[in-house]
Amino acid sequence: MKNFDIIATSAMGLEAIVAKEVRDLGYECQVENGKITYKGDVRAIARSNMWLRTADRIKIKIGEFKAYTFDELFEKTKALPWEEFLPENAEFPVSGKSVKSKLFSVSDCQAIVKKAIVERMRKSYKKTTWFEENGPLFKIEVALLKDVVTLTIDTSGSGLHKRGYRSGQGEAPLKETLAAALIKLTNWHPDKPFVDPFCGSGTIPIEAALIGQNIAPGFNREFVSEAWPIFPDSVWDEVRMEAEDLANYDQPLDISGMDIDHRMVKIAEENAFEAGLGDLISFKQMRVQDFTTKKEYGVIVGNPPYGERLGEKKAVEEMYSQMGKAFAPLDTWSIYILTSNEDFEQVYGKPATKKRKLFNGFIRTDYYQYWGKRPPRVDK
Ligand SMILES: C[S@@+](CC[C@H](N)C(=O)[O-])C[C@H]1O[C@@H](n2cnc3c(N)ncnc32)[C@H](O)[C@@H]1O
Repeated sequence: MKNFDIIATSAMGLEAIVAKEVRDLGYECQVENGKITYKGDVRAIARSNMWLRTADRIKIKIGEFKAYTFDELFEKTKALPWEEFLPENAEFPVSGKSVKSKLFSVSDCQAIVKKAIVERMRKSYKKTTWFEENGPLFKIEVALLKDVVTLTIDTSGSGLHKRGYRSGQGEAPLKETLAAALIKLTNWHPDKPFVDPFCGSGTIPIEAALIGQNIAPGFNREFVSEAWPIFPDSVWDEVRMEAEDLANYDQPLDISGMDIDHRMVKIAEENAFEAGLGDLISFKQMRVQDFTTKKEYGVIVGNPPYGERLGEKKAVEEMYSQMGKAFAPLDTWSIYILTSNEDFEQVYGKPATKKRKLFNGFIRTDYYQYWGKRPPRVDK
């Protein structure tokens, strides 16, 4: 099968985690700002869409070249083999962005790329009239960075965070891709307890259950490239069969989610049910201040309110402080809290073992990590 240049796009700060996922799938890759690039065939594209939990989208790079004039952009775009990807009836909208480049008018770049592709397709499909564009969708992007043009086609459709299970959500839901990344940054193993004390719509516990049973995040959704002629039908069937084979539905899990708001608990339960994990996660209404447990060596991952709205900061900090007291006895547990509050360690009452800068959408946050004691070694 033909090899393509594949790009897995990533949120800022998550590149290393996405790259690890790509390598775990079996593909050597390079890491750049916001993207992970590698080579692979259509099966690699389908597997990447199916399995990557922390990437935003999977794209194919069609070409990359320097362009300082619209003529150059037109000629170099026209020289690329678009007909190898796009059938005669393809729908192919072109979006764009331009950063620090001579060709800064994005709408002009989009129009020129569109015209160049039409011209190329007219020649290869021997067509003199307009294309009807009533077939499968190929979302093309022209991205300019420092005069380097990158032309890509999106293979995912909706972003990969759309797993298909979240119908209800609260005020500040976490993106599923970020939730998965937060879990991947912990030392959690599926045979250990896992708790999200601020579960909201349940994103973190649901992602933990998917990881715990090795269920592919894309198993319950469709991808735009499933309709493309370059993908033989068998590829997606094989990739779905592989996902079914690799899922470990027998893995027992001890995952719970709590929230102060009983309406959120109900939404989380409904979402878990939608994901097919209804009986695997226990949700209940509870304040984090009241959390106690006799279990050991568990992991807590929490995305509490940040208190960014006017007048909320004080109450949120009071809650953080009480949370610190409630968690203090849990010396075998590892605790991970994502917040934008810069005084978190002081308010919580303990310096973090480690912290990591992450963006939750446009909000700059830190992921405060408190590592628990290690379990004693069992000598054989
Ligand atoms: C930022 S949201 C969490 C969103 C969640 N990660 C999701 O993806 O939907 C914070 C949640 O913490 C809950 N919360 C606020 N104060 C709490 C407290 N003292 N104890 C437990 N939950 C609390 C809120 O009801 C809200 O659902």
